[in-house]
Amino acid sequence: MAKWGHASCFTPAITHGRTNGKNPILFSALLWYISATMNKQGNVYFVGAGPGAADLITVRGANLLSGAELVIYAGSLVDRQLVQTYAGQAQIYDSSGMALTEIITVMLDAVAAGQKVVRLHTGDPSVYGAIQEQMEALDRLGIGYEVVPGVTSAFAAAAALKQELTLPEVSQTIIITRMEGRTPVPEREALRHLATHGATLALYLSVGMIETMVQELLAGGAYTAATPVAVVSRATWPDELIVEGCLADIAGKVQSAGITKQAMILVGDALGAWRQGMKARSLLYDETFSHGCREGTVA
Ligand SMILES: C[S@@+](CC[C@H](N)C(=O)[O-])C[C@H]1O[C@@H](n2cnc3c(N)ncnc32)[C@H](O)[C@@H]1O
Repeated sequence: MAKWGHASCFTPAITHGRTNGKNPILFSALLWYISATMNKQGNVYFVGAGPGAADLITVRGANLLSGAELVIYAGSLVDRQLVQTYAGQAQIYDSSGMALTEIITVMLDAVAAGQKVVRLHTGDPSVYGAIQEQMEALDRLGIGYEVVPGVTSAFAAAAALKQELTLPEVSQTIIITRMEGRTPVPEREALRHLATHGATLALYLSVGMIETMVQELLAGGAYTAATPVAVVSRATWPDELIVEGCLADIAGKVQSAGITKQAMILVGDALGAWRQGMKARSLLYDETFSHGCREGTVA
């Protein structure tokens, strides 16, 4: 698998170096190139476990888990049962009590021993997964890795609601975001700014701050007290819970239901479609609409 960014960035160091074989820059670039080539297949796999249900991991992810000798999984959100189902023979670490250096040390030792390592993250690893710092550390160590996507919880929540998030003439945009917690959110992405668009919003990591979230969303101007909101707690887990309402009453409903964490908040007029009826249908299956795969009929 070619990755253009790294190779092309390093090319100038090689082409501008002296060619007598003694230039240290040229030599380390050569070492880097050999190590990168040797590690191309990857010894560490960052795998998305999906939102919870064991059968929502991808086939590729499940196959990698089955062949793994060591698994480090995010124990606060991934079910240990899922890990044991697919990787019963592997040595298993729960990363919830580990610091970055410990995680990397465990990976490094396993790779040095020739083991196949799966780092299992909840949902999709690229969404609030903190994988970048792990990949950066592996890059520095010259350890190859691959990333396998997973079903992110926003889409698991939409499935639980049986709800399309992009509807013609309502919203064609989904914004994935979160309320600011201990991790800062850049000021230009403050919820009240994002709330000027009226798009469908998927809010992660925010249910504990739902009252402030409502105020921020109303301050944006595009949503009103009547804008539909759905909160899906532990989507796809046996104790999944759905709470529906509007911006005016969702905070109270969520508090009454006792939902304080691991919940997805979806906001936007698209969520009202099944109650209010659709504004417009998509052109894709319209009888009169022609496209590459079908000739439309003239009405
Ligand atoms: C650290 S983030 C990880 C997100 C994950 N990478 C993903 O793609 O879903 C954790 C947050 O994801 C959301 N989340 C994760 N699993 C969930 C589930 N099964 N149901 C609802 N929300 C979930 C919650 O908002 C939770 O606070």
